[in-house]
Amino acid sequence: MAAQTLRMTALGAVLALGLAGCGGDGAGGSSNSADAAPEDLTIGVSMPTETSERWIADGAAVESQLEDAGYQVDLQYAGDDIPTQSQQVDQMITQGADLLIIAAIDGTALSSQLDAAAAEGIKVISYDRLIRDNENVDFYVSFDNYKVGVAQGTALLTGLGLLNEDGSPGTATGPFNIELFAGSLDDNNAGFFFNGAIDTLQPFIDDGTLVVKSGQTEIDQAATLRWDQATAQRRMDDLLTRSYNDGSVVNGVLSPYDGISRGIITSLQNAGYGAADKPIPVVTGQDAEIASVKLIADGVQNSTIFKDTRLLAEQAVIAAEAFLEGDTPEANDTTTYDNGKKVVPSYLLPIQTVYKDDIQSVLVDSGYWSADEVAKGQADD
Ligand code: GAL
Repeated sequence: MAAQTLRMTALGAVLALGLAGCGGDGAGGSSNSADAAPEDLTIGVSMPTETSERWIADGAAVESQLEDAGYQVDLQYAGDDIPTQSQQVDQMITQGADLLIIAAIDGTALSSQLDAAAAEGIKVISYDRLIRDNENVDFYVSFDNYKVGVAQGTALLTGLGLLNEDGSPGTATGPFNIELFAGSLDDNNAGFFFNGAIDTLQPFIDDGTLVVKSGQTEIDQAATLRWDQATAQRRMDDLLTRSYNDGSVVNGVLSPYDGISRGIITSLQNAGYGAADKPIPVVTGQDAEIASVKLIADGVQNSTIFKDTRLLAEQAVIAAEAFLEGDTPEANDTTTYDNGKKVVPSYLLPIQTVYKDDIQSVLVDSGYWSADEVAKGQADD
């Protein structure tokens, strides 16, 4: 009996080894992917939310470019819910994904999924938001996120007339009242944006040209959980009630993302800003979301930072193909993105500030939005 059990156990081990070597079938079929045809490989694409159209555009661009390259794609949106994203990624792994592309909701919440992926030999590409505190992040595709913050700070200074568009000193002297907003603290990008902006604004705060009247200058005070528009609107309401009920006005608001900018603008409009005697403050943004592009065209929002999601998707696909062919993707930054466990090799794309005058040349001429979509403030299906 004992001998038989031993034989059975040995047989089980041989079978298990055989299965593990199979690749392509069942869970974690990535080990032999270099020999497999693209149509036999599945790429799991995990996106955070469909409430922001940028992620819809990202998901669609990644999916179509992967499909054009011949791969099967399993694209999932997690509704900004952390457990949903964990579960979706778990499922991708158990269903045999050969590679994962993940834009995390909470950059620290996917460790067990990444460990499971690594155990199956599945490469993980972190998409735009760096996954933190785990060494099994194989590559990162994003933009230069600190520069995004610098560009947002610069746009605020330019909008106030403290700088000209060419970066030379403007004619305005201030002092100007400003307020600061940051993104979701569980997103690694939020700190990069805020730091880039604050480093740019700090000299003007130090010499009294800019005054943060609420006194809320720390990122924890300025943060907006899940980058949520309604949360930003409530905080702006609160700031106006608490710090501007003495007849003083807000002249500028640093906003890290268009959805947050729209919340801020709604709050300001509800408080009478935008009327002839009370100009709308300079409000920055990011992502060139169509509703905000219209607000910029209408002179309501000052600017946005354009990050071309088509190019980001392309880089993710290039990296995915390299891994699946058994190669290492080319990085253009190997120093900036330390995720707490390792510096993740990254490919960072350039960004562009878009003011009203740039909408045509940057967004319409490149085919990102049509003139008609800009006029409507809505994307065509
Ligand atoms: C960040 C991203 C921004 C913006 C924000 C809210 O991670 O870098 O471009 O999209 O999320 O979705």
